[in-house]
Amino acid sequence: MTTLDRDSKGRFISDEDARQRRTSAVKLGLAATAGAAIGMMALFGRRTASQAPTILAGDWPQALAAEHKAVLKLFDAIEATQTRAVARRTMLLAQLKHALAKHAIEEENAIYPALRDAGRADAAESLIRDHGDVKHFLYDLENMPKNAPEFLETIKAFRHEIETHMREEEERDFPALKAQLSEDQNRKLTRQMNREGFKLA
Ligand SMILES: [Fe+2]
Ligand SMILES: [Fe+2]
Repeated sequence: MTTLDRDSKGRFISDEDARQRRTSAVKLGLAATAGAAIGMMALFGRRTASQAPTILAGDWPQALAAEHKAVLKLFDAIEATQTRAVARRTMLLAQLKHALAKHAIEEENAIYPALRDAGRADAAESLIRDHGDVKHFLYDLENMPKNAPEFLETIKAFRHEIETHMREEEERDFPALKAQLSEDQNRKLTRQMNREGFKLA
């Protein structure tokens, strides 16, 4: 016996047993690696599908405007629910939360820093404060019974605030930044924004 492999009781085992053990371990390792690769591919596919509408919408201001529209559709759907539709309200709220989290990462990690670099720090700070309000609305809604009488009132107030924020971005700050950047810088910013969105897609 030349092997130093031992069994579970600490006894030495034969070369053949040791070889079989190693083969099984390698097979298990390969299966785990293949499983992980399939998992990664599934995750990558799901994220690609989730980020696709943003990517296909065009450059960064068009992409973010398309996400604004999608968010407003979710508000429409929530506002159309009956008080007793607790499960549907919970599901739609989760979708809204996810869409806004992804959108905020894209803006806060790419667009707002670019606004600052372009000498528009005041605009960036005001917009980021609005994002704090958005999170507060989401927090309140999350902690509220979904059939509470104030649920829809809170949704309406939230929508009013977020629509004002979206208008400021779409009509004032984003066109100004886009005009200030070169074609190349805008292309780079679009890529960077999509990379950030992909992380949370
Ligand atoms: Fe924003
Ligand atoms: Fe936005």
